[in-house]
Amino acid sequence: MFRFLRQLCGINPFKGDVPVSRVWITRPGTRGSTLPFPTRGNYHEPIEILATFFAKADVEKGRARHNRYLEVPGFDPILVTRDPQVIRAVLTATGAGEGRLDRDTMPSTGIARATGPDTLLFSNGPEWQTHRKASAKAFGKTSLFTDQVFETFEQTFRNNVEQRINELKRYFEASGDNEVELAMEPEIKCIMMEMLLFNFFGAEVDPTEIREKYIPAIDKVIEHIVRDTIDYQFDLLRFRQENRREDDGELADAFELFEKLTDLSMAPRAAGKCAWARVDDKWADDDLRSNVKVFLAGALEATTSYAAWAVSHLARNSEYQNRVFQEVESVESFRTDAIDNAVNLQKVLRETLRLTPSLYFLPRRAVSDTWITLSDDSKMLLPAGTHILLDVWHSNRIQEYWGEGTTGFDAEEFHPQRWDAIDGSGCSKDYLHFGFGHGARVCPGKHLGELEAALVVGGIVKLFEFEAISEENQPKAGVSTKPADGTLVRLRLRP
Ligand code: HEM
Repeated sequence: MFRFLRQLCGINPFKGDVPVSRVWITRPGTRGSTLPFPTRGNYHEPIEILATFFAKADVEKGRARHNRYLEVPGFDPILVTRDPQVIRAVLTATGAGEGRLDRDTMPSTGIARATGPDTLLFSNGPEWQTHRKASAKAFGKTSLFTDQVFETFEQTFRNNVEQRINELKRYFEASGDNEVELAMEPEIKCIMMEMLLFNFFGAEVDPTEIREKYIPAIDKVIEHIVRDTIDYQFDLLRFRQENRREDDGELADAFELFEKLTDLSMAPRAAGKCAWARVDDKWADDDLRSNVKVFLAGALEATTSYAAWAVSHLARNSEYQNRVFQEVESVESFRTDAIDNAVNLQKVLRETLRLTPSLYFLPRRAVSDTWITLSDDSKMLLPAGTHILLDVWHSNRIQEYWGEGTTGFDAEEFHPQRWDAIDGSGCSKDYLHFGFGHGARVCPGKHLGELEAALVVGGIVKLFEFEAISEENQPKAGVSTKPADGTLVRLRLRP
């Protein structure tokens, strides 16, 4: 009752030293181009939905421009922040202990209904800790960053690319051209899927079936997940189409293939192949199955997004494409030290994840009234029930933090050199782009993702010269972000 009265009177629920300003949905002149929450009409533009929170925020003072809230009487408040210090404090305060913040499960209800809710991504508290323990060793840096593991991943890359290059050569011979316009994202996705299946899970699957059957099925499942999450929010209003999966034959087939791919990924466990060798016997297959589905769909999305964005940026930055080429030109075998020595490639990947993070927002929820503390000791109260959206996409583009004044370059542009200034500043620890998250729920697949992205981007630059067809490099976003043009480039084989 007290809360309802407070909401009606429009009293700010966020106490403490960090100012938070309000977004009014009842005053259209104060918001951006769309409504500040997903609807059937705007759900395919999630970055625009986040942007609308900040559209008219410049009239506010100081940090209130970066911390915004929306409140509708009767509902829990929504806090959207692009303030790097608040994001860091919220991520640090997330975990399983008493009084910690949870990952907000609302934005991933669609994922949970496709994979099962018993996953690392969807669970909270002690259940989440159990999942984390079960998979920790499989993803450890020491298990993945060995020359032998690198070689097997590289072999998969070579096999895939060799076959595609032969097709390209045949095309060049037949057409008399020496270049082709090609959307790289689907190619990258195939390579990522092969590496995950062959090298991480040790699965035996026909590469043609991966390209022609399994990837289209997973794409369809992911498209359904995004839509289903929105539908779920309208469930109260009985708008949701029940049993859509059964009614839509193609979707039902896609889910069946998703199950089959999960079986194929789990089958090598009995022989202890690849990452399965590092999963404890005490976990039954049923304890792991839903997580394998999360890895298949989520990891494919995230790693494809990461490498597709990097190639997209390099296609618009010939200087850095050349610098990376000079680094990888003489690398004959992709060993662990090859990554350490490829400093320009590393800067490209860091800058890619800053400017165009694969996961563009991180959702959190205050289970009880929770105080968070920022690095400058200021404090903020997050009232129980608050949905917190950490808007990483816009946070990483704030000029006062990442722009010319501090890094020497416009925050909205791609400049890998930015990292020289940051590394030389002596306070590089303050520059977190949250591309893999932060704190207890940091991405467990970080090392695997870094390995795959470095190999694929380095390998593509070594073999091809490419430039973007269009200067614009707009995002499209669903579960993750990707270049809207599918990473469309003009591609030439290097001599
Ligand atoms: C290179 C690409 C990748 C990027 C950019 C990425 C990004 C992220 C981010 C930002 C989070 C934190 C989410 C949050 O705090 O709410 C996360 C969590 C997670 N990632 Fe990744 N990821 C990548 C690759 C992978 C791979 C390869 C796997 C598995 C095979 C994976 C599995 C997961 C899981 C299960 C979580 C949830 C962890 C937890 O809540 O404890 N990711 N990822």
